[in-house]
Amino acid sequence: MEEKRLTLAKLKLSEKVLYTGYLLVVGIGILMALLQILLTHGMADGEFGVSVDDVVYSYHGNKDSSKLESKLNGSMNDKANDLDRATLIRWAREGAKEELWPEVEAVFKNNCNSCHNSIPSLATFNTYEDAKKVAKIDEGASLDSLTRVSHIHLFGIAFIFIFMGYIYSMSVGISEIFKSIVVAIPFGFLIIDISSWWLTSLYPSFAWFTIIGGFGYMMAFALMWFTSMYQLWFMKADKL
Ligand code: HEC
Repeated sequence: MEEKRLTLAKLKLSEKVLYTGYLLVVGIGILMALLQILLTHGMADGEFGVSVDDVVYSYHGNKDSSKLESKLNGSMNDKANDLDRATLIRWAREGAKEELWPEVEAVFKNNCNSCHNSIPSLATFNTYEDAKKVAKIDEGASLDSLTRVSHIHLFGIAFIFIFMGYIYSMSVGISEIFKSIVVAIPFGFLIIDISSWWLTSLYPSFAWFTIIGGFGYMMAFALMWFTSMYQLWFMKADKL
């Protein structure tokens, strides 16, 4: 029986190439995902690198202030003088009224638009509607975006890991129990990760689970990726 089992090192060349192509593409994919997390959520608290605060800001928001106010007290602190900052903060606190827009527009124009109009993906403040978005109370992730991102992640990530797990399951020299745990980990952590977004939107302390969940499947990914690549190309088939 043992000889009939599929092992990575003994696959046909075409199968090896097929699995390698897949591993390379999902490998690039996960690096892009990491970069995107660093650039979006990673900067949420104004400092580079993902921290618990980033997760809290992204999913729970900051329910006693607007994004505009927290940024003006954080990473945008040095972008305007005290008077201009106070004008913007007062405007946001008083409900971002449209009749005050002309005065506020001038402050944005003088201090902020040089960057905010030129760096892609930043919020813009050219119209009242755009500026209002950052001036309202920061509710974190909306139900709409949570449901959308959750189902995309559940389906998408499950697909990535069923193929990775399948490839990894053909590795040798690793106990069946250990392999079973490694292929199960991503699915377990995926559920922890997604649930933690929902829980964090209600209770900020669950932000830890988002970080643990993400870290968990990154580790499983790396382990399966390197083991599979090694056994596909560097393990001698005749020694098995
Ligand atoms: C030197 C360039 C620069 C200037 C000037 C600047 N910003 Fe920013 N702003 C950034 C960058 C880069 C980010 C994203 C990183 C971060 O969140 O700290 C950002 C993020 C923000 C955000 C978070 C929303 C988003 O788009 O990510 C707000 C709100 C904001 N800035 C408000 C302001 C206001 C108000 C001013 C003017 C008083 C201002 N900024 C001036 C570069 C700038």
